Amino acid sequence: MPDDSAMMLAAGSVADAALTGLLQPRKTLPAKLFYDEEGCRLFGRITELPEYYLTRTELALLADVAPRVAGMVHEPAVLVEYGASDETKAEFLLRTSVFRAYVPIDVAVPQLEQMRARLLKRRPDLLVCTVPADFMDVAALPTEVPSLPRLGFFPGSTIGNLDPLEARRFLQAARGALGDRSWFLVGVDLRKDPAILLPAYDDAQGVTAAFNRNLLVRLNREAGADFDLGAFAHRADWNDDASRIEMHLVSLHDQLVHVAGQAIRFARDETIHTENSYKYAPEQFAALAEQAGWHSAELWTDPARLFSLHLLEPRRGP
Ligand code: TRP
Repeated sequence: MPDDSAMMLAAGSVADAALTGLLQPRKTLPAKLFYDEEGCRLFGRITELPEYYLTRTELALLADVAPRVAGMVHEPAVLVEYGASDETKAEFLLRTSVFRAYVPIDVAVPQLEQMRARLLKRRPDLLVCTVPADFMDVAALPTEVPSLPRLGFFPGSTIGNLDPLEARRFLQAARGALGDRSWFLVGVDLRKDPAILLPAYDDAQGVTAAFNRNLLVRLNREAGADFDLGAFAHRADWNDDASRIEMHLVSLHDQLVHVAGQAIRFARDETIHTENSYKYAPEQFAALAEQAGWHSAELWTDPARLFSLHLLEPRRGP
């Protein structure tokens, strides 16, 4: 689990990041603040909830799809994973023996080192080049990455946590970093009935609520804040126009909160918008990929059409 130093967020920068969002007319908090030690633990529990279909559906799909993707890549190649805090999902691809090197990109340095150590034991033949960076900031891969064809891998529908403009910029940057002989396998949660979507972000046991509220716990501890934890409720909304789940923390009454010496007023029912999770129909995501220099060459979904894996290729021609 990433600790704070691993997340490269010093105490001052936690307060700065929080205040920047909380002083906006529509209050927000940056999603990167979710992942302190407790946040990582709670997120691990979310992935095992009965309502949270995403992780288990993607894993089942990957078991099926990984050998086919490997068959398309076929030559000695490099696997580049964006936002890799463990190798569970990459293993499905690494098992196929098409890959000479694995390049996990993540801000959590201890996690990267643990992955390297585990893989060294299990796969001594595999070159592991860790990239300690925010996956949004990788314009080029380090020079020690062999110049072989590259398969980019971005699972978990993490792309849905970017707004469509950021997602396009990210896909463009990945297109540049992966080069002309590349593919990109992207896990994308599908647009579907809100009756399925909403419980995935507001489960019966309240784990997602605890995950959301943990932001305030963290600010109380690390940013000199005095949030009354009982005075904010978790809420998940489906925003159909934007095609996204929104997570909010709702102020249950008028109140004044302090963060790093700064007073912040909350009206009753005012919210802090903490996360978005965009959901894409296959053709919507394919269109986004096209704008970013990719072409969606293959699409796989589970039989219930909950989740999708897009295999992108560099877009050729005009
Ligand atoms: N990308 C996943 C999703 O949107 C994981 C995730 C990110 C998440 N932030 C979250 C899950 C907040 C629950 C709550 O589902």
